[in-house]
Amino acid sequence: MDKITLTPPSKAAQKVIIATFMLISFVCIFFVYYNPNTTFFKFPAVDVHTNCSCTETCLDVLKKQNYKCTIKNASDNPSTTPAPNPAPATAKKDDQETILLIWVYPFGARFDLGVCGSQFNIHGCHLTDDRSMIQKAHGVMFHHRDLSADLPQPPRPAFQKWIWWNMESPSNSHPNSLINDGFNLTSSFRKDSDIPVPYGRLIDATDEQKNFTIPKKDKLVCWIVSNFQEHHKRSQYYNELVKHIKVEAYGGHFNNRVNDDDYGNVVSSCKFYLSFENSIHRDYFTEKLFNPLALGTVPVVLGPSRDNYEEFIPRDAFIHVDDFPTPKELADHLKSLDQNEEQYRQYFNWRKHFISMSSSFGLEHACRTCDYLKRNKHYIAIKDLKGWFWG
Ligand SMILES: *[C@@H]1O[C@H](CO)[C@@H](O)[C@H](O)[C@H]1NC(C)=O
Ligand SMILES: *[C@@H]1O[C@H](CO)[C@@H](O)[C@H](O)[C@H]1NC(C)=O
Ligand SMILES: *[C@@H]1O[C@H](CO)[C@@H](O)[C@H](O)[C@H]1NC(C)=O
Ligand SMILES: *[C@@H]1O[C@H](CO)[C@@H](O)[C@H](O)[C@H]1NC(C)=O
Repeated sequence: MDKITLTPPSKAAQKVIIATFMLISFVCIFFVYYNPNTTFFKFPAVDVHTNCSCTETCLDVLKKQNYKCTIKNASDNPSTTPAPNPAPATAKKDDQETILLIWVYPFGARFDLGVCGSQFNIHGCHLTDDRSMIQKAHGVMFHHRDLSADLPQPPRPAFQKWIWWNMESPSNSHPNSLINDGFNLTSSFRKDSDIPVPYGRLIDATDEQKNFTIPKKDKLVCWIVSNFQEHHKRSQYYNELVKHIKVEAYGGHFNNRVNDDDYGNVVSSCKFYLSFENSIHRDYFTEKLFNPLALGTVPVVLGPSRDNYEEFIPRDAFIHVDDFPTPKELADHLKSLDQNEEQYRQYFNWRKHFISMSSSFGLEHACRTCDYLKRNKHYIAIKDLKGWFWG
């Protein structure tokens, strides 16, 4: 090695180096802190028919449609085994590709058909919306809300499976005469679907993400709601709760709408968020749960039982209304946590291990369905779809 003489940097140079270092650190910390918010709430150019009539859930789901985030490990979903990566390049590639036809886009919202590999590490899939592929497709996906008499013309190839696909709760969707015929597989938020796709899930945090800081708080309890109906259990609970604690209420019902750009800042500035589902069904917890988790706010949940939530998220990540005999006692607990920083922090212990991720509506169903078709070629038929979902 040649000898290298290092002259110690001058005082001025030292200052520049220190200043540069601090600037870089600041930028890094800034992005560690802000990245989840900024990527989470960009919903560019979605081809949504603005005139479709949607329930609250459907609109919320659409908003998440362009949530761009790479799932690093597809095997975090127990039902999915990642295909070998990279896929071996062979001349017979086309023969091996599983073809999945999207018969209609959900609520008319298109999604990118070429990204199962990059997003989910699922390879060998050919997703298409080209109906002329109907005789070749291994699977055809039908979105429940968009089911109509406009079905494929027979004959139906013997190997072809039809997938019934729905993310709305049973209360928010209605059985129709078309559903008891011809379907082979289901894809929904329900864990016992053939291809379950919950609204979100926790995945392993990277080392950077493990260094989580609770966002600054200037509100205690918040709620954003548009669809406020007196007969909903959540409305009744809320009406009781506000007698005992101040709730910052937003949304159409309260004439206090939050636009998409502000949503992240509003939710993260609250210590607690009322993750109250509009209807109570097994496995039905929506972005109302997964968004606050992602944004550093403790969800207070109203939905299915605590046990059911604990099948999806850690028990100390949320507060369940059923943990308290009355809304007043919940209010007292929230007030006491407001006074006890140390106890409040315990609700974020899970952040040392996980982050909360939303599903890509539509795309994720299609990619995971394709993966399922590739691995399960046996005959299968649904006996009583109506009884299973609405029974
Ligand atoms: C609704 O949207 C569809 C698709 O963009 C369009 O064809 C139709 O004319 C619209 N209907 C009304 C009533 O605006
Ligand atoms: C994915 O997770 C599984 C177990 O959770 C682990 O065995 C595997 O190595 C992980 N793969 C990658 C690419 O991180
Ligand atoms: C974690 O983040 C804080 C600031 O948010 C920073 O001061 C600290 O150095 C970080 N630690 C690691 C191990 O990255
Ligand atoms: C799919 O289900 C239909 C109707 O139940 C049945 O006729 C068909 O044979 C099934 N196809 C496969 C490939 O399982």
